[in-house]
Amino acid sequence: MCVVFVSSIFASLVLCLLGLEVTNQAQPEVDAANRWFDQMNLELKLLNHEAAEDAWQSSTLPTETVIVEKISQLAVRKAHWERTTCSRGQRYGDFNASFDRALNLLCRSARHTDEEIRNMTKLLAYLQEIYTETEVCVNRSCDDDKLWKSTFFKYHEQVSNNFSVNELCLFGEPDMERIMSRETIPLFKDKMNCMMNDQHILSWAWQSWRLAVGPPVKESYHSLIQVMNVGARRSGFQDIGEVWRAELEMPNLREIVSRLWLDVKPLYQKLHAVVRHFLKKKYPEVKNFQSGGQIPAHLLGDMWSQNWETLTASILPHEVDIDRNFRNSNCSSEQMVRKAEDFYSSMGLPMMTESFWKKSIFERAHNITKCHGTAANMYDAGDFRMITCAGNSMNDFYVILHEMGHIIYYMLAANQPTVFQDGTNSAFQEAVGDTIHLAALSPSHLIRLGFLNSSYLKPDSDDNLNRFDYSLLLKISLTKIPALPFSYIMDQYRWNLFDGSIGFDSDANNYFWYLLESEQGIRPASEIDRTGFFDAAAKYHFTDNTPYVRYFLANFLSFQILEGLCKKSIFGDVKTTQTLPFPLHRCDLYGSKRVGRLLGKALKLGRSQHWTLVLEILTGSSEISSRPLIKYFAPLTEMLDKIIDEWQLTVGW
Ligand SMILES: *[C@@H]1O[C@H](CO)[C@@H](O)[C@H](O)[C@H]1NC(C)=O
Ligand SMILES: *[C@@H]1O[C@H](CO)[C@@H](O)[C@H](O)[C@H]1NC(C)=O
Ligand SMILES: *[C@@H]1O[C@H](CO)[C@@H](O)[C@H](O)[C@H]1NC(C)=O
Ligand SMILES: *[C@@H]1O[C@H](CO)[C@@H](O)[C@H](O)[C@H]1NC(C)=O
Ligand SMILES: *[C@@H]1O[C@H](CO)[C@@H](O)[C@H](O)[C@H]1NC(C)=O
Ligand SMILES: *[C@@H]1O[C@H](CO)[C@@H](O)[C@H](O)[C@H]1NC(C)=O
Ligand SMILES: *[C@@H]1O[C@H](CO)[C@@H](O)[C@H](O)[C@H]1NC(C)=O
Ligand SMILES: [Zn+2]
Repeated sequence: MCVVFVSSIFASLVLCLLGLEVTNQAQPEVDAANRWFDQMNLELKLLNHEAAEDAWQSSTLPTETVIVEKISQLAVRKAHWERTTCSRGQRYGDFNASFDRALNLLCRSARHTDEEIRNMTKLLAYLQEIYTETEVCVNRSCDDDKLWKSTFFKYHEQVSNNFSVNELCLFGEPDMERIMSRETIPLFKDKMNCMMNDQHILSWAWQSWRLAVGPPVKESYHSLIQVMNVGARRSGFQDIGEVWRAELEMPNLREIVSRLWLDVKPLYQKLHAVVRHFLKKKYPEVKNFQSGGQIPAHLLGDMWSQNWETLTASILPHEVDIDRNFRNSNCSSEQMVRKAEDFYSSMGLPMMTESFWKKSIFERAHNITKCHGTAANMYDAGDFRMITCAGNSMNDFYVILHEMGHIIYYMLAANQPTVFQDGTNSAFQEAVGDTIHLAALSPSHLIRLGFLNSSYLKPDSDDNLNRFDYSLLLKISLTKIPALPFSYIMDQYRWNLFDGSIGFDSDANNYFWYLLESEQGIRPASEIDRTGFFDAAAKYHFTDNTPYVRYFLANFLSFQILEGLCKKSIFGDVKTTQTLPFPLHRCDLYGSKRVGRLLGKALKLGRSQHWTLVLEILTGSSEISSRPLIKYFAPLTEMLDKIIDEWQLTVGW
């Protein structure tokens, strides 16, 4: 039956002419549903804007009770709003696809009482405060043994700008990281005014950071989980892990994740074997470091053994040092941000806004305590902001490209109703900047940036590639591949804590180490029994309570999308069966308007469509695959095989 109401006569007539059933809902019902939808988006925007302002304050100012109280009040208000809005909206269920999706996205979260929300906000603020405002200090002393004896920690209240002459303090994660990457070890020794063994300093930094942040947060974290689970169960989930997983919209997420990890584990093991070989040669004095065993975690160049990039030169030295060229260019942070913007805009994607340049924070001011790379959507016309306490290393350039990827996604999705103004899921949100980063590391773009001489595009006589390609691939693999087991473990661990299959007693840390040892192949920096520790808390996203499996998935997605975009730029079609005329790591997307249009088309959908559709647009496939990643590193894998053969290395541990 074709009922035509006056108010929508034109649309209905068209549908009638097409022979379509218009709707069996009465028109007043339809109007009411539309009104609900519009009002919901309007109100959501205001709430999101307020929340973004609070979050911005709390990431740029020291943790103060006032802000925590504000955040807590807003969270309570938003929860009330959600409940009433959802129950009104549910009256019009089965309305149309986009309406139903909006309703589902809005109403699928855990439901909490006001008291629970206040407790959670406080607990979370406490965890974050420990992480971001802790100083690891040491009384200057020349004696290796005394380094430990004279170590102490300063928490929030004790932070001050005046130090006693004898004390040397490292401020939070950023300073600790610079020790772990060995960047500031010479400075540290200098300030301590004596000679010390590097390995000893690394081990000290690794252990003292875990001692400073782990034990103080364990109990609060346990309480937080309990409260989160209560809310999750109230809305029909088994536990908060299930709520987290639902966000990704992959019903068989756990299977997908395990399969992807098994696909790449052999590659990780090869890289691990080669790195272990070179590290053993470099640190013969480290005890209990077997050639067929796990690698001591503090030697790998970062706090979590997830980024081994700094080891590149000790494995495959090359006359071109891209890192050095970056630093020597003396780019200011703002100039680096301009270079990143230039990449995106060369493809026809939008330039950063006036607000962005006015309100972002690019450098670590003395009074900014929290420095984690952040991209903020303020839900206010054109107000997008970035925090990056960048120096001018290549890794800083990565952080900038990554955060800008988030902002580009926000900008393009801004034409959607508020509820859809985000990535299709969090993994895609993380993958955009990483894809562009891979393209920006192509030799031809490095030449364009002035960090590489064009003679390095020429193949060596017996191969299509040259030595630089291999050293570049090794460098990229050392940042991307070790991140895989780590990001796999982070949520594997939390899912099991959440659903209670791992207890919160002595099992908690032992299970974490079981995963690290068996999957990542690393072992603690010292022989001290770690049962009483809580080492996962040494990672930002843990105390920040941010899910991590999105980064695992984004890692695969970025290679997959790179391949799709690359085919688009060369052949005009992501689905082509033609093979690229060059290896994937040489794909430079700079200036490709075609690629920009395709990205624009996919990202503009925001969250309004399921991720499979977005992946289909970008790659021609609707499944996450490990194949492009494995293909990208294929030349490197051959090289690793040769090294393994030559030195008769054991693979695995
Ligand atoms: C579905 O409903 C929403 C909200 O009422 C409305 O804005 C949208 O235009 C509708 N979509 C279609 C395809 O009818
Ligand atoms: C909230 O925290 C207080 C103080 O720690 C505690 O007594 C209370 O039981 C908690 N309430 C809920 C619902 O978790
Ligand atoms: C550091 O030195 C100060 C005095 O200079 C002393 O009071 C303090 O106990 C020392 N701390 C440690 C952990 O050695
Ligand atoms: C730090 O310095 C300020 C003045 O510069 C002084 O008032 C304060 O007492 C000092 N604090 C400590 C702990 O020495
Ligand atoms: C960068 O700064 C250093 C030291 O200030 C200087 O020696 C070098 O020439 C500068 N490099 C460029 C490219 O400006
Ligand atoms: C930090 O210092 C700058 C100037 O040094 C000032 O403009 C800014 O307001 C300060 N921020 C905070 C949060 O105190
Ligand atoms: C590039 O490298 C070639 C060969 O090493 C050298 O002859 C040439 O001068 C270099 N060009 C620049 C601009 O550095
Ligand atoms: Zn991100």
